[in-house]
Amino acid sequence: MQQVTIVGAGMMGASIAAVSAAAANRTVLVDLDRERADSAVANARRCIDQMHSSGLVPCDRAEVAKKLLSAADSFETAVSGASLVIEAVPEQLRLKQNLFRTLDSLTDPTTTIASNTSGLRISEIAKDVQYPERTATTHFWFPGHLVPLVEVVMGEHTSEETTQTLRVTLLAWGKTPVVVRRDLPGQLANRILQAIIREAVHIVETGLASAEDVDTAIKAGMGLRFPVWGPLEHIDAVGLDLARAVQESVLPYLNNSTAPGTALTQRCENGDLGWKTGTGFYDWSVKSKESLSCIRDRFIPGAVALIRSLEGAGQPSPTAE
Ligand SMILES: NC(=O)c1ccc[n+]([C@@H]2O[C@H](COP(=O)([O-])OP(=O)(O)OC[C@H]3O[C@@H](n4cnc5c(N)ncnc54)[C@H](O)[C@@H]3O)[C@@H](O)[C@H]2O)c1
Repeated sequence: MQQVTIVGAGMMGASIAAVSAAAANRTVLVDLDRERADSAVANARRCIDQMHSSGLVPCDRAEVAKKLLSAADSFETAVSGASLVIEAVPEQLRLKQNLFRTLDSLTDPTTTIASNTSGLRISEIAKDVQYPERTATTHFWFPGHLVPLVEVVMGEHTSEETTQTLRVTLLAWGKTPVVVRRDLPGQLANRILQAIIREAVHIVETGLASAEDVDTAIKAGMGLRFPVWGPLEHIDAVGLDLARAVQESVLPYLNNSTAPGTALTQRCENGDLGWKTGTGFYDWSVKSKESLSCIRDRFIPGAVALIRSLEGAGQPSPTAE
């Protein structure tokens, strides 16, 4: 049995710990103090319950997984014997750099050290460690215990061996890793998400459609297709000549600004920051974030289970039309 240590036992730390324990790893959580680590163990157990009730983990494995979780009092105890350490502390470069230096000195050089950073460069985070070849980013997408995607980002010094070890480990954890070979802002999926958000804001800004209709167009259209039909599969399927013709006529009208759109900036300047202040693109006194989150958290595992059941079933039989 492998030992995995999660450093930083907040929202992401608890959900990553749940995934690790559900894959039968002894999983240790450590934070600034023991109390926070203890409460993360309780949160991770709740994540496992949710994985179980969503059909992602069978009952017997869920019960074993809960017992594999523990909290540690110190970094030394937490990392002792770990083959993999994943850092999930707040998104501050200095903090992560200091932590990586500490982890580098406390662990055996064969231990893989990964960061869950959303946007910082792993090459920068690991710039002062003695063995940068064993470092990489493993960016779990929120909610980490339900969304299959994990981006494995290689830093300038990350070895191929570390990358493959992480990829194989994440596959064994039931995740869907993708390897990002250059250490750039936005990694892979966030580059695409930001391009969508930029255009969505632009459409509202120019009066082409309301915020609600923008979200509806994505949720009721391409969003439903994307889990099984990626954009590059799409253009190959329709024909690249057609895809090129559409791009030639549409791209000149899309937003290509390198700054956030004015519809976004103006709301920020007015203090309309979305759900947390009550108004953003929507009026949150009449819209419920809790209900949206609840639908999302029920939809994702259901969709994952359905896709997995369909995998392999999409091949036409030799006699089918
Ligand atoms: N929240 C998201 O949706 C999301 C998604 C993907 C990735 N991430 C990334 O994951 C990381 C963690 O995010 P989060 O939302 O879980 O943050 P969080 O604030 O919920 O948790 C961070 C935890 O780290 C602890 N901590 C702070 N300094 C520490 C130290 N020196 N040593 C040990 N523990 C320390 C804090 O006490 C806290 O419990 C960030 O890099 C973030 O960008 C977040």
